Amino acid sequence: MGEAKGHVLFFPYPLQGHINPMIQLGKRLSKKGLTVSLIIASNIHREPYTSEDYSITVHTIHDGFFPHEHPHAKIKDPPRFNDSTARSLTDFISRQKLSGNPPKALIYDPFMPFALDVAKDLGLYVVAYFTQPWLASLIYYHINEGTYDVPDDRHEDPILASFPGFPLLSQNELPSFACEKGSYPLIFKVVVSQFSNLRRAECILCNTFDQLEPKVVKWMDGQWPVKNIGPVVPSKFLDNRLPEDKDYELGDSKTEPDESVLSWLANKPAKSVVYVAFGTLVALSEKQMKETAMAIKQTGYSFLWSVRDSERSKLPSGFVEEALEKDMGLVAKWVPQLEVLAHDSIGCFVTHCGWNSTLEALCLGVPLVGMPQWTDQPTNAKFIEDVWKIGVRVKTDEEGFVSKEEIARCIAEVMEGEKGKVIRKNVENFKVLAREAISEGGSSDKKIDEFVAMMS
Ligand code: UDX
Repeated sequence: MGEAKGHVLFFPYPLQGHINPMIQLGKRLSKKGLTVSLIIASNIHREPYTSEDYSITVHTIHDGFFPHEHPHAKIKDPPRFNDSTARSLTDFISRQKLSGNPPKALIYDPFMPFALDVAKDLGLYVVAYFTQPWLASLIYYHINEGTYDVPDDRHEDPILASFPGFPLLSQNELPSFACEKGSYPLIFKVVVSQFSNLRRAECILCNTFDQLEPKVVKWMDGQWPVKNIGPVVPSKFLDNRLPEDKDYELGDSKTEPDESVLSWLANKPAKSVVYVAFGTLVALSEKQMKETAMAIKQTGYSFLWSVRDSERSKLPSGFVEEALEKDMGLVAKWVPQLEVLAHDSIGCFVTHCGWNSTLEALCLGVPLVGMPQWTDQPTNAKFIEDVWKIGVRVKTDEEGFVSKEEIARCIAEVMEGEKGKVIRKNVENFKVLAREAISEGGSSDKKIDEFVAMMS
């Protein structure tokens, strides 16, 4: 570790898909000599703790909810979350300013624009960190600016939306919050408000890399003080300059993955297994879950499916047992996804196209079958299929339902079709570009160095 430089505070939106990219950048900044603290807004108080490998101290601040309320209740009540958390954040930063090593900057998730105002009022340097890609965030920007009107009805004439630096997007390729007026009103406000005060941020970071979104990066150039610092996937799976950085966890915050899946994969031939996972939030309907199970079985490929406990009852009865008995596949409740994607036996990844999963597959050269559900996922899927050409997207019916034939067709296309060969080559190219970006002297590494210099 280098000599101690400035102290920066990270303030992620308290969902795993947002926290992980903050932790990962925190690790890199800590190894480059900055003092890093991570602030998590929660309804459960924990004593602060410091991770051994990275000297990152994790603090919780109160989010205004009671301990018995569901951790996701805050998503449904943004005003209560924002008001209470803004007060807790003010208290926390005020106390930190009196400490021996007062913080210089707040790196906040723009899902919480109030954090910018709090930090400005307290005299901190303010850094917005987008953990979702520009290809989604810029659409929210255009809505906030009034340069894009969300259609009244999803089933209007198929309009193509046009944004600078983007391919034309049909309605089902827009982020779900932007494809129909009035859908998800609360979250719509959250994503669009990211830009309400962004002009006041002194620096803007994003978990992407210049070569991945070159057209939008070019469009933004000169307008905003942007630094693309991604992909912030654990270093072991990228540049390996932080060999101890094997997963997203910090010290004792570990969610135990089922490591036994790796010995199961060890016996499988190269590129023979279909890996299926839909992230931390997506809940398929029971009908879609059953259809997906039948599709996977129908393909005849070995499969590994990560099914969270809350989703397990939606599987067809006897599916898990039959898969195991006939050695067709394995259903696990949480797998070490990076180790899985890095495994030689994996042939493709059936995914909801969450941004972390997308970047992980891209960094590890795994072709994708996209089954996007909501938020940024449909737009990520558009880029996966038509811009980067590293996967295919399943086609849905009018109700958004995907048939087993369609899922099976897409899996077969990626696993063994001619298109699959091109896709595999493309994703291998992106794997190289991602590594270059984050390796010493790469575009993202330089931006991280510039940022560290600013904080020192
Ligand atoms: C959410 C949104 O849904 C997504 O669209 C947005 O881009 C980020 O925030 P989430 O649904 O959790 O994220 O998906 P994703 O971003 O893909 O993150 C899932 C994470 O869980 C990945 O880092 C993945 O490696 C991890 N994971 C998933 C496991 O480690 N094990 C599993 O079994 C499944």
